[in-house]
Amino acid sequence: MIPESFIQEVLNRIDVVDIVDQRVKLKKSGANFVACCPFHQEKSPSFTVSPSKQFYHCFGCGAHGSAISFLMEYDGLTFVESIQLIANQLGLTVPNEQSGGQVQNDYSRLEEVLSMANKFYKKILRETPVSINYLKNRGLSGETARQFQIGFSPNEWQGLQTVFSDYEENVLQAAGLVQRNEKGRLYDRFRNRIMFPILNAKNTIIGFGGRVIDDNEKPKYYNSPETPLFKKSYELYGIPQAKKGIREDNNIIIVEGYMDVISLHQHGITNAVATLGTATTIYHIKKLVRYSKKITFCFDGDQAGREAAWKALNTAIEVIDDQMEFYFLFLPANEDPDTFIKKNSPDKFKTLINNATPLTEFIIRRLTSDNDLRSQEKKIKFLNSFEPIVKKIYSSKYRLFLIKRVSELLSMSQVELEKIIGEKFSEGVNIKIKYAPSTKNTLTAKRKYLLILLSRPDLFEVSDHKCFNGTSIEDEIFIALSNIFNSNNSSFNNSASIFASLSNYLEDKLIVELQTQVMDFGENIDLKTEMELVRSVLQNISSKRIQSEKLSALKNKSLSDLTDEDKEFLKNFKK
Ligand code: UTP
Ligand code: MN
Repeated sequence: MIPESFIQEVLNRIDVVDIVDQRVKLKKSGANFVACCPFHQEKSPSFTVSPSKQFYHCFGCGAHGSAISFLMEYDGLTFVESIQLIANQLGLTVPNEQSGGQVQNDYSRLEEVLSMANKFYKKILRETPVSINYLKNRGLSGETARQFQIGFSPNEWQGLQTVFSDYEENVLQAAGLVQRNEKGRLYDRFRNRIMFPILNAKNTIIGFGGRVIDDNEKPKYYNSPETPLFKKSYELYGIPQAKKGIREDNNIIIVEGYMDVISLHQHGITNAVATLGTATTIYHIKKLVRYSKKITFCFDGDQAGREAAWKALNTAIEVIDDQMEFYFLFLPANEDPDTFIKKNSPDKFKTLINNATPLTEFIIRRLTSDNDLRSQEKKIKFLNSFEPIVKKIYSSKYRLFLIKRVSELLSMSQVELEKIIGEKFSEGVNIKIKYAPSTKNTLTAKRKYLLILLSRPDLFEVSDHKCFNGTSIEDEIFIALSNIFNSNNSSFNNSASIFASLSNYLEDKLIVELQTQVMDFGENIDLKTEMELVRSVLQNISSKRIQSEKLSALKNKSLSDLTDEDKEFLKNFKK
């Protein structure tokens, strides 16, 4: 098997224009090159090669692809042979990697390295007085630190080398522990930080948050990247530690920070969890209501806190059903749960919780905060903002009482109000991935990837997730599939069994579409080779995207802020 890094290297250096031009004479035409298509008979050139996209496309017959697929089609080579041919041309030697066998389709290996890293971080914490003092100064007891398995990452570029004999092993990068700089050197993602392991409900570590011990350093918190195990929009901090408290209290408190969860816990409020630097999503809520139907969102009392709360409310109303209860708690300005509980008693905090604003009340308060309803115009304005909110609510009981309340507020009858609002209400969020008719008549690389995977689940590689971090249907399906693979380690031998699981995540129409495509696809091709091709295309696209994101980030920096690394990157980019 050729190492992925080498294929990357080849793809980065190769120029599709060269490869094609050596075989089919190209002519410049604007930004592109054209020729008569070698894959079908034609008189005027519709075969186009784009140097910036590194792709060819024939407007006549639809043939398209990269330098590698061109070689495969035109020279009739396999994927590996194409790579070898290009490598020779570039003067590179193809390295040999011990082959296959150990497929990377292995979540347990990811979990294992995260747990090993955590053991190491905990050991370093015990040996580093500054980090122990930091936690002590923040009032944390040894018992709490143990309960949350807090650690410390050493101030070294390759600290994890002492834990992992093979520091280059891909799984360390896939787990988000190690990353590569622009010069290709690997280094620890977390250095000189207090380490908070993030655990899932099964008590397995899926990621880390790391906090600086010197508040002047930025960023204050640094989290694991999105990995196959760790998706911020699904995961929360503190679930296993909070389970017992949630059961006893029948209430979940959602706070904003790691230290808020920990500090509340130490002060006896053991039912708090935190989002991970993101807004609350419907997936967070759907996950939490399995533990308790009552959720209290806790925010700072300042403007930013009120806006964050309103955002959370707008998410919550998409999910709420007749059984759920949502409350909103606003702390005094400039306090977070951690600072509040330290200055006040736990009972004071509990009182706040017990007096938190119910969801319906929050809606009314918000909409009347700058509207005294003292003219017809103001009432109309109120109704205009009320209408879209009430229409999003799927629970008929919540809707009924909101409408009742508003009709009283505006001194109109409930019937009148219902009449103007109409009858079209939300049917609840279907969190199944929705079918959308495709606008293209060819399959995208991402869709092809999925079709291959649905026929040959064994070709799945954990590291592929980095190609699927967009927002398309394919990205969502990929996440669903990796969830399925993750929770059922090895039981998929055929498409039918995957489709059975997938139907929990996808709308029926989308399932049907995929099934039809899988039937049509790959009858006469070697799926393993095709997968390698598609994968390299996707990796190429994703590395290009990362580069251009980086480039635009650098463009916003002033020249004096550029590091040597940045300059090196820009220099290489221009080449
Ligand atoms: P805050 O800035 O409110 O910090 O971020 P905090 O939780 O009060 O932290 P302490 O008390 O100073 O230690 C709230 C949450 O937002 C995310 C983290 O999840 C943090 O817990 N965050 C914050 C980041 O991801 N990166 C940052 O740089 C800052
Ligand atoms: Mn804080």
